Amino acid sequence: TLTQAEKAAVVAIWGKVASQADAIGAESLERLFSSFPQTKTYFPHFDLSHGSVQLRGHGSKVLGAIGEAVKNIDDIEGALAKLSELHAYILRVDPVNFKLLSHCILCSVAAHYPNDFTPEVHAAWDKFLSKVSSVLTEKYR
Ligand code: HEM
Repeated sequence: TLTQAEKAAVVAIWGKVASQADAIGAESLERLFSSFPQTKTYFPHFDLSHGSVQLRGHGSKVLGAIGEAVKNIDDIEGALAKLSELHAYILRVDPVNFKLLSHCILCSVAAHYPNDFTPEVHAAWDKFLSKVSSVLTEKYR
């Protein structure tokens, strides 16, 4: 679980990320698909070229869900319950991929806000994203 200080750090940087959520979402996916091309197999129906409408649309959805988790940081399970069922039962995404996407989101946030991305903020976001990932994969058990 996140400490009060870690929650505060996540909420604070989200205040900045939110204004560029669509761009950061698309960039995170682009990093995912170029650094870890095996993840593209889940998106055979998408045009994954740079700046595609689908990449931007999906990036916006993913970061929107991250925003919901930030807003409900004390009840991430509740906030993401439906998405958890979708990823586990319908999409059947292998849980290893959540680590890869989390890493790419972290890189995108760091690239956009280098001055805010202190070691403390880095650690807090890393912990927050691993909590989000464990909520989205817990239905697999
Ligand atoms: C769909 C969020 C991780 C594959 C979605 C949607 C959201 C979302 C909000 C749209 C749901 C809807 O339309 O109702 C997230 C979040 C993640 C995550 C917050 C982790 C931080 C992953 C990973 C993969 C993945 C790691 C696979 C590499 C998919 C696919 C869809 C989807 C294939 C359906 C796309 C479509 O056909 O429109 N996800 N996701 N997700 N997600 Fe995730």
